[in-house]
Amino acid sequence: MKAYYDARAPEYDDWYYGSGQFGGVARPGWDEELRTLAAALAAVPAARTLDVACGTGFLTRHLRGAVTGLDQSGAMLAEFARRVPDAATVRADALAPLPFPDDAFERLVTGHFYGHLRPHERVAFVREARRVAGELFVVDSALREDVEPEGVQERVLQDGSRWSVYKRYFEPAELAAELGGGAVVHAGRWFVAVRCP
Ligand SMILES: C[S@@+](CC[C@H](N)C(=O)[O-])C[C@H]1O[C@@H](n2cnc3c(N)ncnc32)[C@H](O)[C@@H]1O
Repeated sequence: MKAYYDARAPEYDDWYYGSGQFGGVARPGWDEELRTLAAALAAVPAARTLDVACGTGFLTRHLRGAVTGLDQSGAMLAEFARRVPDAATVRADALAPLPFPDDAFERLVTGHFYGHLRPHERVAFVREARRVAGELFVVDSALREDVEPEGVQERVLQDGSRWSVYKRYFEPAELAAELGGGAVVHAGRWFVAVRCP
């Protein structure tokens, strides 16, 4: 997954904008729902926040407070720094111990990362998230009728390279329960977001 996302960094935002290889894909309600999700993120009270696997910062820019973006990909972080210039950046592996002391942040946000984790990685990641932050906020892909709930997907980038990526889709209440309980703050066709104290 690390090499895949580093290679995908220059074209990652095509997924959000519906451009590039996503140009011809029908996604009813996508743009409207993205605006709703952005508003939900902007409505969360300002806090000292760590965004793990922040990518290009497409979602991060809506967060209020002092934000640090962490990602393993230098290419993703370069785009992140352009988009969210006031945020700090850290290049690190989110599946290793996070390079911060206990309770360094008030909130840990992660978007479209948890759903790529295998069971043992989920457990370790949530344990680390709980160690460094008081609150966990997870955004991910919603389960819909045209996708498998989980599985290995074959993905192709614009250069023709092929990648195998494990991916899950979520029912919002189930995700909140899996994370130990919390509030569903967005439940749409495309995205879910849960906030776990
Ligand atoms: C699907 S993108 C999500 C980006 C952003 N959070 C969003 O929601 O648009 C997944 C991100 O996870 C990062 N990533 C994958 N494995 C990682 C790891 N082990 N440690 C840190 N970042 C990782 C990738 O580089 C990529 O930026």
